[in-house]
Amino acid sequence: MNIILLGAPGAGKGTQAQRLEQAHGIVQISTGDMLRARKKANDALGRELSSIMAAGNLVPDDLIIRMLGERIEQPDAANGFILDGFPRTVPQAEALQRMLDSKNLKLAGVIELKVDEDALVQRIAGRYSCAKCDAGYHDEYQKPAEAGVCDKCGSTEFKRREDDKPEAVRNRLKVYRDQTAPILPYYRAKGLLETIDGMAPIDEVTQKIEALLKKAG
Ligand code: AP5
Repeated sequence: MNIILLGAPGAGKGTQAQRLEQAHGIVQISTGDMLRARKKANDALGRELSSIMAAGNLVPDDLIIRMLGERIEQPDAANGFILDGFPRTVPQAEALQRMLDSKNLKLAGVIELKVDEDALVQRIAGRYSCAKCDAGYHDEYQKPAEAGVCDKCGSTEFKRREDDKPEAVRNRLKVYRDQTAPILPYYRAKGLLETIDGMAPIDEVTQKIEALLKKAG
């Protein structure tokens, strides 16, 4: 099963992708996580990625399309994947379609999580994750069972993202409106797009996604 999760920054793509990964044994492919890992090399490309991402801009299509193409070739993607953060532009959506066609793969669904902008800003401001295993949390909406201890790996170290600062968030929301929202009609025209109310509590959003996937067979 291959799924795309779409939505503005903070809409809950990563949160839901982690749950789908566990429930269905398919792999979450987050282009944001891939780029953050690549940045750590701190070579010329790493530094270029750092400055683009810290400002909340998109990295060039040709680079991200190549990275994604290599990632879906990996053995852990053979059972299926959840794309979280890709595609983000019309050229990326078209390139993905060519990749899927060449492998004879189909999309089970393209799910848009729709959330008000005010709520997005609040979600991003409160977000943090485990420094060891990357499990996601929120100061208010998704706290670990024991304060200060990761539910998944027991680590007591947490981190916040550089691009979650207010100025970068404002730009990320603008970039979403200008460059990513135009791909919604692309998938609607293919009859693949389903929109879910991402303002609902996390468990409810998961239930709605599961219901859609069941319907899609
Ligand atoms: P990326 O890492 O993909 O970030 P994003 O799309 O901005 O999305 P986020 O990770 O911020 O949000 P999310 O929707 O996953 O929300 P989350 O589940 O964490 O991209 C980062 C950067 O990389 C880009 O700006 C760009 O520079 C580059 N990049 C990446 N892909 C690219 C591409 N394809 N092309 C070009 N450049 C690319 O939830 C947010 C918070 O809300 C969490 O704390 C969570 O606990 C909470 N929450 C979630 N759901 C709910 C709910 N239902 N109710 C209450 N709280 C909730």
